[in-house]
Amino acid sequence: MGTGLLHTHSLFRWLAAVFLLIAIIKSLSGWLGKKEYNKSDNLVAILLISFTHIQFLLGLGLYFMNGWFKQMSNMGESTIRFWAMEHGLMMLIAIVLITLGRVKSKKAATDELKHKKGAIFYIIAFVLILWAGIIKPLALSRGWF
Ligand code: HEM
Repeated sequence: MGTGLLHTHSLFRWLAAVFLLIAIIKSLSGWLGKKEYNKSDNLVAILLISFTHIQFLLGLGLYFMNGWFKQMSNMGESTIRFWAMEHGLMMLIAIVLITLGRVKSKKAATDELKHKKGAIFYIIAFVLILWAGIIKPLALSRGWF
């Protein structure tokens, strides 16, 4: 069960990262190109929120099922510290930023602001996900899927 969950979580990172990248490209081109905020922008934002929130639940499941919460006394070891604290915390911040980006974009009065709000929050979240959800896990010899 834990292994299946880990694979699903590992696979879902690509859905989250790809949709985040699409959302960034769309909101940047919408903002800088002064385009209208259309149905496809809205759909990408909804899919992005869905994939990242599912990823959060999968991560939370792994955190408790694989006993990482019991590792608080072993924080001196950098790999344990990464999985037991840094990874989850940084990913949580990234997901909160994506959620804020969506909420602020939805509430914005003009199409230009909708694109702008999304772009800023999504770009910061992408840096965090790229580092703590892709580069660092690969550096720690975790698989691509
Ligand atoms: C977009 C967000 C996230 C991405 C891209 C991501 C990515 C990853 C990756 C690539 C791994 C290694 C998978 C493997 O070895 O096959 C991993 C493991 C893990 N993730 Fe995440 N993650 C995200 C969110 C979260 C969150 C929010 C939490 C906790 C609340 C979390 C908790 C964990 C834990 C505990 C592990 C280690 C599991 C184990 O080896 O027992 N993740 N994550």
